Amino acid sequence: MKTPFYVTTPIYYVNDNPHIGHAYTTILADVLARYHRNEGDEVFFLTGLDEHGQKVQQAAQKRGVPEQQHCDELAPRFSDLWKKLEIQNDDFIRTTEPRHIKAVQAALQKVYDAGDVYTDEYEGWYSVAEERFITDTEKDSGHFRDVKKLKERNYFFKMSKYQQKLIDYINAHPEFIQPEHRKNEVLGFLRQPLGDLCISRPKSRMGWGIEIPFDKEYVTYVWFDALINYITASGYLVDEKEFKKWWPASVHLIGKDILTTHAVYWPTMLFSLGLPLPKTIFAHGWWLIGETKMSKSLGNVVDPLSLVDQYGVDPVRYYLMREMVLGQDANFTMESFIKRYNSDLANDFGNLLNRVSGLIGKYFDGCVPKEGQAWAPDKEIRKVADGLAKNIEELINGMRVHEALEQVLVLIRNTNVYMEHQAPWKEAKENLERAGTILYTATEALRVSAILLLPVMPAKANTVLEILGAVGTEPCWGQLKAGAKLQSHDALFPRLDAEGKVITKS
Ligand code: MSP
Repeated sequence: MKTPFYVTTPIYYVNDNPHIGHAYTTILADVLARYHRNEGDEVFFLTGLDEHGQKVQQAAQKRGVPEQQHCDELAPRFSDLWKKLEIQNDDFIRTTEPRHIKAVQAALQKVYDAGDVYTDEYEGWYSVAEERFITDTEKDSGHFRDVKKLKERNYFFKMSKYQQKLIDYINAHPEFIQPEHRKNEVLGFLRQPLGDLCISRPKSRMGWGIEIPFDKEYVTYVWFDALINYITASGYLVDEKEFKKWWPASVHLIGKDILTTHAVYWPTMLFSLGLPLPKTIFAHGWWLIGETKMSKSLGNVVDPLSLVDQYGVDPVRYYLMREMVLGQDANFTMESFIKRYNSDLANDFGNLLNRVSGLIGKYFDGCVPKEGQAWAPDKEIRKVADGLAKNIEELINGMRVHEALEQVLVLIRNTNVYMEHQAPWKEAKENLERAGTILYTATEALRVSAILLLPVMPAKANTVLEILGAVGTEPCWGQLKAGAKLQSHDALFPRLDAEGKVITKS
């Protein structure tokens, strides 16, 4: 049975320089999408850009170009990066597209007609830098720049009306907000009375947004615009059949910085629209750079493009997926990148390929030998490899991506140890059939591992499968054909020195 799997990333601010944090969420979504596709599920993977708001307007004005042109010129920095990172998204939504404007206006009209929108005058401290009203305490903290008193009539969404309904929903659906500590954080937040949400800006002050259908003097602002993207792209009010198929989304992947907007604002908006809530909102942690937050002013922003240009896309994807425990913060350092690369990719994965292809070349004319009678150590490898796909599926569905990778690497490592112990190069001199069985076993374990690594390292894992002449992507034992001719190849992951330079053999 094919199950629809709909995965989203946040839509990134078009003005930002894409960095390793954006790349992380998008690669994670891609990895989940690829696992599900390989399992035969129907997948819809959405990412995109958030293009309205004051910052975009100001940046465009500064450059002296119309806002839309500014967005059009900046958008490829993200879409080109996704190509380089081998991201296979099914859609790329930009909030300035007509399809999105229509969906936002229809949604606004719906919540308005449901009686969930009212207008009110508000006077308070406004931070121009943060683009929001701040509380007196926040103002007194001195952390906010460009603060001024502002009196303004605006539209508000009755978020407070849905507070109890949301609390009940969260309690009844333990899988809705993950990981569990984030769920508790949201429930804690909901212990305080929930305010209503300001959803407009007067055009006179900020015009770069979507016009409110029931008042042409206003545009809607930030979250009421951005969050709707998840339903726009799945066919809301345009293609009922499609929408029914994909909505509710299976998982919204987000960083912990936008938990409240996704786990409080968005569900209350959906309640008002009469739509079901996404099955899971999963908040991951932050990538820190040597223990500190990444920021432009600190000059420590990691550019994923230069990493990919230097080391190739697969090691970058692997490192990000292996190093972060989903839900917790992780620390990016070049040392740990080089270490992971050398140990897992060069010494374990690459080395196993080198060994089996070298020995099969030497003793079997480069053709996969027959799997003869299996001894206990062969059976052990076979048992683990055969059961691995099932374990991986469970770990991936439980959002334990780093553990799933570790399990594949354990098989690879154990197969390297098995080779040492069984020493097929010695057996080859006395018992060629036994050497063949050992090499078949090790090669088949490598094939199964490569298949299970495909979603994370699509290029290199595929290269391995091509070298092995493996047809199909079945991760169960025994698919490797005896007699298949191995292709010659270079080192899969040439080792790096401490500075990260490729070590070339002299
Ligand atoms: N436009 C909003 C989201 C709207 S979604 C309806 C936004 N955009 S953003 O460009 O600031 O991107 C935020 C997302 O980028 C985070 O939620 C996270 O997914 C990712 N990351 C940004 N910095 C990050 C790290 N340092 N580490 C990990 N991911 C982080 O907020």
